[in-house]
Amino acid sequence: MSFRFLDLPAARDDLRADVLAGLAAQPKSIPPKYFYDAPGCRLFEAICKQPEYAVTRTEHALMASRLPEIAAAIGQVDCIIEPGAGDCSKVRALLDALHPSQLIVLDIAGSALAQAAEPLAHDYPLLDVTAIGMDFIHELDAASPHLAPGRRLIYYPGSSIGNFSPAEAATVLTRFRHLAGEAGQLLIGFDLKKSPQQLHQAYNDAAGVTAAFNLNLLERLNRELGANFDLAQFNHYAFYNPQAGRIEMHLVSLAEQTVTISGQAFHFDLGESLHTENSYKYRPDEFGGIANSAGWKQKGEWVLDGFAVQLYT
Ligand code: AVJ
Repeated sequence: MSFRFLDLPAARDDLRADVLAGLAAQPKSIPPKYFYDAPGCRLFEAICKQPEYAVTRTEHALMASRLPEIAAAIGQVDCIIEPGAGDCSKVRALLDALHPSQLIVLDIAGSALAQAAEPLAHDYPLLDVTAIGMDFIHELDAASPHLAPGRRLIYYPGSSIGNFSPAEAATVLTRFRHLAGEAGQLLIGFDLKKSPQQLHQAYNDAAGVTAAFNLNLLERLNRELGANFDLAQFNHYAFYNPQAGRIEMHLVSLAEQTVTISGQAFHFDLGESLHTENSYKYRPDEFGGIANSAGWKQKGEWVLDGFAVQLYT
């Protein structure tokens, strides 16, 4: 059994700089990766249990029911790399089916990742587990020295790719292509275009968990940056934009107000939006086009209830 945790804070983004820049811009925005502090990770796990949010459940059902086929299509693999691994629960099915000798999990939430990844090393005694706390999007190359030679599989489940615009997604998939190397493969899961009503409900659950997740971002800024957001003065607002093919999440100001962060004042008009997330939805062929443009060739596709998993080489 072997487990290593590498915290690479230098390869992580700067919350303060990104927030100050995002709030100074017009329209205001904050990157969705900053949702995932410890309370944010817990709220996201709670979202996944809401009846309206089917992404995680459907992907799990798809992976469980089609795993033998998926594993056969992948073939022999030495190393699995999972960017944005979070609670590390999704990769277990693949470890059971593929028996790689190395697992590399990456996440911006470093200490939560380390806690989630260590039990894997106990449960899979032959597996060499490396957890790296880093922003894999900007600094993916920082992971390269930790990779053993051999056949690599990049596993990017959960529709996380949906947080990027199609152009950014192409860039991310190109970086994955380089990290995977010659014989490398990519197994990726993404949410499909479906009825706007259904999509709308998934981001407006009746229990208000998605609203709490969105507002927690402001609480994080209050706590970590000494900001003074009044959470009662912002509304969670999420909707499907069919022209852009994406869910948009916003926090809308309920009053004209000024918020101070690090001594800088930011003015919000009544009704002004702080854009916190895009979640793109694709058709299978549409996503295939993006992957092709990043140098990947499709090798397999599995679809269940509005969710797709595709395999590329
Ligand atoms: C983790 C990016 C896949 O976009 O559906 C869930 C995040 N935001 N509800 C998504 C999220 C609001 C989620 N991803």
